[in-house]
Amino acid sequence: MKLDVVLGLQWGDEGKGKIVDVLAGNYPVVARFQGGPNAGHSLHFDGKSFVLRSVPSGIFRDGAMNIVGNGVVLDPITFKGECENIAGKTGIPVTEKIVIAKKAHLILPTHRLLDAANEAAAGKGKIGSTLKGIGPTYTDKVSRNGLRVGEILAPDFRERFEKLKAKHVKTLSLLGYECDPCAEEAEFFEAVEYLKKFRLVDCEYFTNELLDKCDILAEGAQGSMLDIDYGSYPFVTSSSTACAGACIGLGVSPHRIGHVWGIFKAYCTRVGSGPFPTELFDETGEKIRAIGHEFGAVTGRPRRCGWLDLVALKYAVMISGVTDLIMMKSDCLDTFETIKVCTSYKVDGVETSYVPADTFANVEPVYTEFKGWNCDLTGCRSESDFPQAFSDYIRFMENYLGVPVKIISVGPDRDATVMR
Ligand code: IMO
Ligand code: MG
Repeated sequence: MKLDVVLGLQWGDEGKGKIVDVLAGNYPVVARFQGGPNAGHSLHFDGKSFVLRSVPSGIFRDGAMNIVGNGVVLDPITFKGECENIAGKTGIPVTEKIVIAKKAHLILPTHRLLDAANEAAAGKGKIGSTLKGIGPTYTDKVSRNGLRVGEILAPDFRERFEKLKAKHVKTLSLLGYECDPCAEEAEFFEAVEYLKKFRLVDCEYFTNELLDKCDILAEGAQGSMLDIDYGSYPFVTSSSTACAGACIGLGVSPHRIGHVWGIFKAYCTRVGSGPFPTELFDETGEKIRAIGHEFGAVTGRPRRCGWLDLVALKYAVMISGVTDLIMMKSDCLDTFETIKVCTSYKVDGVETSYVPADTFANVEPVYTEFKGWNCDLTGCRSESDFPQAFSDYIRFMENYLGVPVKIISVGPDRDATVMR
């Protein structure tokens, strides 16, 4: 059996939640392998809407088991709120349907304060972090100071917590950041008690033993261009968002990877700071933002919008070995007379189809223009419903990227999906 992986190929917010929910109908198990509550995966079905942060997007499918993997950083407070909201609105028995890796790292309230303090100290160089404590928690993991989920069962968990908190308090004071480091402590310990209701597992054994029996769908968070190694560093998140991250984050061999589903929007967006070659600062960008409702699901921040960047997309396809593409939000371009796609960059006046090593410094996009299809795609339910101009556009992308587009989303709802 195989581990199939769903990945965002741009700067996040590609529509991973919707697609994992759609695909989860075919998978008995869904696993998150990296990231944390910086993710905001939106799902719409049966007139209901949810934004998932740490809970895998298989939660709404009958029978599907959901794993929060080793590579995830888990904030007990957010996780408790999210689970209670789902259970309250749907009656889904979350404690039975979610298992949590003992090796996943815990986000402490002081990790969030450190995130805010680092950003405040960075001034103009700030990352535009979601301020959920992601960077500081992964920093503690790598510097071997972190606390892991399994440790909540240790009799001296409180002491371990205090030891790490004391380190954080020192750093906060060095940064001159004024805050109350104890403000959310009671809530944190209450949420830690709530975590104990879940099965805490040795994720690598659990996942590999399940893989002997059934396929698993791994759900990526963020996107390739936010990857700690291959993204637009330093304006990235702190985890490995590419396909290889699924192996590390779940304890599964690369041999077991099957399909690699790569998701992209028919245009590009980015929240937070950092380079974005195809960004639009005019009314076209504003039109995309308005039609696509491009405001952060987690932070509410307006997203920066621009044309599709095939150079960056091809880079992401290569790094993750994407086998199948999924195109989202094509319907948001229904009313554009002309649609532009970036097919090469000019770097210091020289045309190239490579992402430069210093990721995007001095990059000028070179566009190929398409005549818009100018009709409503939202009612399409099969490929034969597509206008010719749209089919030609898809074929162009497949040729450029060398990978077939297998799923096309034409609206936020579960049903607004065309399989090819
Ligand atoms: P999903 O899973 C979009 C961005 C932040 C910031 C940078 C670092 O919904 O696609 P962090 O909080 O990780 O330290 O922020 O990464 N970012 C995202 N942008 N979607 C996300 O997740 C993101 N997670 C982080 O805006 O620029
Ligand atoms: Mg998001």
